[in-house]
Amino acid sequence: MIDPKLRHELLNALNRIIGYAEMLIEEAAAESRQKQCDDLAVIRCAAQGVAQHLKGAFSGRLAADAGCEEDFLPICATSRNHVPADAGKTEGSRILVVDDDPDNRAHLSRLLHSRGYRIATADNGANALARLADESFDLILLDVIMPEMDGITVLARLKADKTLATLPVILISACTEMNQVIRGIELGAEDYLPKPFNSTLLHARIGASLEKKRLRDQEMHLLSQAMLAEAALDRHRALTQAVAGIAHEINTPLGIVRTALSVIQNRLSQPAIAASIGTEHAESLEDILEAAALMGKHVDHTHRLIENFKKIAVDQMVEQQETVNLPETVQDAVDLFKLSAREAKLEISLDVSGIRQAPEWRGYPGYLRQILLNFLQNIERYAYPDGGGGRVEITVKDGMDEERRTPVFTLSVRDFGTGIDSGHLTKIFDPFFTTGRGRGGTGLGLAIVKNMVTMALRGKISVDSEPHKGTCFTVTFPKQ
Ligand SMILES: Nc1ncnc2c1ncn2[C@@H]1O[C@H](COP(=O)(O)OP(=O)(O)OP(=O)(O)O)[C@@H](O)[C@H]1O
Ligand SMILES: [Mg+2]
Repeated sequence: MIDPKLRHELLNALNRIIGYAEMLIEEAAAESRQKQCDDLAVIRCAAQGVAQHLKGAFSGRLAADAGCEEDFLPICATSRNHVPADAGKTEGSRILVVDDDPDNRAHLSRLLHSRGYRIATADNGANALARLADESFDLILLDVIMPEMDGITVLARLKADKTLATLPVILISACTEMNQVIRGIELGAEDYLPKPFNSTLLHARIGASLEKKRLRDQEMHLLSQAMLAEAALDRHRALTQAVAGIAHEINTPLGIVRTALSVIQNRLSQPAIAASIGTEHAESLEDILEAAALMGKHVDHTHRLIENFKKIAVDQMVEQQETVNLPETVQDAVDLFKLSAREAKLEISLDVSGIRQAPEWRGYPGYLRQILLNFLQNIERYAYPDGGGGRVEITVKDGMDEERRTPVFTLSVRDFGTGIDSGHLTKIFDPFFTTGRGRGGTGLGLAIVKNMVTMALRGKISVDSEPHKGTCFTVTFPKQ
């Protein structure tokens, strides 16, 4: 009877021959060297035959051996050339091979290197942990039985380390080491690979683990982006609430100033006052009245600003949620603008033929009216500034949101006027950005519109514009 240790070593050696033959077959097949493929296949078959004999001589001795049969199955050259569909995405991944046997390390490194992975090696558990502390990897291939620190101890240390706990580990083990493998899987190993290596199984398990890690990393990245966006939105909300709060506080004393000023103007304008002051001080009286008028103009302007500051905190405005017919609501808003439109010679058309499903919207018609009025006022003021007027096309459609798979409405407001300078396009939604300060613009209109769309309507807004061709604002929001 062959000594089990000798048998184990013979099988190991044979499997290295099989493994190298398979790797060379793969390389030869990639370069269409058919003759070399055939010769190497003969070597591989012969080694597989000897291995089968060796195993046959011991059949029934070790129950766990049954699980090793797949390692000796002949593998045809074509199936070995199979590269998983996602191979490109995990190419270049960094793999740490930890094995005390130099032949195993060399064999694995070569096999994996030929698939485009970047390989580093460690010859024992302590060295592996030292490398992991300094470098980052995507996967570890970890031999279970090693002198000094075995694979299971390394795995336990990794899982106890917060920064390394999610790193996937594939255990490498002989079939007789099933108990340790089970312990490793319980500790959180991703998978295991039986020794001797079956190259197809090796690539399949490594590919699957790396792909899983790639998707997990992607998910973590998206999650952290969503958290950053949420934090930015929270800051924005806090800021707008503060602005609205201050505006509210200023509004009351400003109202008192306005009233007091009206009293002063009224009283000083009375003929009796002018008569009692006499011609001597008539000029001074005129100066006072002029100054009061100037103050009145600026107080009114400040009042308008304050009103806009208040509107910026959308959630502090009181609007009712209602179920309405969307085309009718849009038509109502356009009608509200009728007088101004006539004066500005705007020719407004409304096309709702793109609504194919139910036209009902569960939302805030008050906000939608304000959004439309802001667009139309901007068109009047900026798109057709010389008073010559022009066309405005409003369209409403319905459809599906691709990401969330929910029904949405899309509202577009297009003009054919001056357009927006490309350098301004990224700024127009910023509070206080305006090119019309001299024309009474505060630069808050579109900032308020954006807040209403994103916060109250839970939608998105975008703009398309080309100088001298026109501008189109598009708002998409859920039907309910
Ligand atoms: N339809 C448009 N055509 C050309 N420019 C536009 C149009 N709509 C907006 N703009 C540009 O975007 C800027 C910002 O618009 P926004 O409504 O925020 O502020 P505003 O109209 O200047 O001031 P406010 O609305 O607060 O009175 C405008 O100053 C203008 O330069
Ligand atoms: Mg505006």
